[in-house]
Amino acid sequence: MSSPALQTPQAAARIRVRPGNRLSGSVTVPGAKNSVLKLMAACLMADGEFRLSNVPKIDDVDTMSDLLSAIGLSITHHRDTSEMVVVNPGNLSLVAPYELVERIRASINVLGPLLGRFGEVRIALPGGDDFGSRPIDMHLSGLTQMGATFQIRHGDVYAQADRLHGADITLEFPSVGATENLITAAVFAKGTTVLDNAAREPEIVDLCRMLISMGADIEGVGTPTITVHGVERDALRPTSHAVIPDRVQAATYIAAAAITGGEVMVRHAVPEHMEMLLRRFGDMGITVEPQHDGILVVGPEQLSSIDVVTLPFPGVATDYKPLIVTLLAVADGVGIVTENLYPGRFRYVDELRRLGANIRTDGHHAIVRGVPRLSGAPVRAPDIRAGAALVVAGLVAEGETVIADVHHIERGYDDLVGRLAGLGADVVFVP
Ligand code: EPU
Repeated sequence: MSSPALQTPQAAARIRVRPGNRLSGSVTVPGAKNSVLKLMAACLMADGEFRLSNVPKIDDVDTMSDLLSAIGLSITHHRDTSEMVVVNPGNLSLVAPYELVERIRASINVLGPLLGRFGEVRIALPGGDDFGSRPIDMHLSGLTQMGATFQIRHGDVYAQADRLHGADITLEFPSVGATENLITAAVFAKGTTVLDNAAREPEIVDLCRMLISMGADIEGVGTPTITVHGVERDALRPTSHAVIPDRVQAATYIAAAAITGGEVMVRHAVPEHMEMLLRRFGDMGITVEPQHDGILVVGPEQLSSIDVVTLPFPGVATDYKPLIVTLLAVADGVGIVTENLYPGRFRYVDELRRLGANIRTDGHHAIVRGVPRLSGAPVRAPDIRAGAALVVAGLVAEGETVIADVHHIERGYDDLVGRLAGLGADVVFVP
């Protein structure tokens, strides 16, 4: 009879966690989901063979591969070496169908490359998701300023522009996706585009670096003002590029080590990509020591409460929030977490309450009163990050915590269970 621990994630419906060991040892952070998906879309921008390395084994990469294959790219993901070969044959279909678009938000990232290069694209309008409405008005308004026209018919956006032209665009809010689409579209625009109040997340810097190595002319990378000098539509060439490490997965292993009072080396975590978070983790009593190849984490005997506000980079990212709320749930004192990006992103709080957490929500705020210990229970993963946070909570919840809807976690985590088990956690897949 096969043991549950040996089951493949595909066959498993749930993750079971039991408390026990303080985590110890070292864990290597895989490539960033929110980088690789955009880099894959950027392969639409030149014909020929691209090579991406440090590509994570996550479901969203498979979904993006399906979408780009439907458009005409040929993609081989060598899962054993984390490499991906993407061949762009040049003869593409300019349609992104609903069945694929609805599965991941990042599918909207094909808009800028296709519209900029080919002057037209039909893409299904992305829907909302588990944490609220996710409009694309800023993407469309920026592209309109560059000369594009849009029609929405039967749930699809029909975008057209003979040739986009440069424009001075100020974003109302530093949206990650809008910044990425406007940069990729501007690469082929006639003239210069200046994008103000641009987002400057490390994943955007990664995308710009890849575009520059393909021949794009971009200045101000990593600052709020990005200048793109347009090049001819056939001027870009394919490239090889290594995906940056995933800062949210890194934060997950830091949180897991910290909540168990463990000592873990989180390899490949980049301190500069998570500076503000590390500072706040320090305020909670967690030792986070940058090393040459990652971050050494030592958890305290007792975590301290803090107040946290989520903000665009370089602020504390919204994606870290479920982890922070989980740590606060067992910290000494009361912490207030204020969400500034997604009004609806507190759904997982009900699941944490099932584990005995004392959390009250009020509009954009969660007031978390630490309790001495959590108590294991069956829960559901409501989205990627909240799902991982529930696994982390299970590490210190008496009895057993069984997390259902694991498919959410697998969209963005490359072997969370195996990596935590490697650090000594009692965590397995169960049917
Ligand atoms: N927004 C608008 N209009 C727009 C664009 C955004 O109102 O045209 C709003 C959104 O509805 C949201 C806020 O602005 O309330 C932030 O959205 P943003 O565009 O910055 O986010 P995104 O590009 O849709 C990416 C990540 C998210 C991450 C956010 C914020 C990807 C694929 N997704 O989303 O990651 O939370 O940036 O940092 O890169 C995740 O990985 O689990 C995840 C949700």
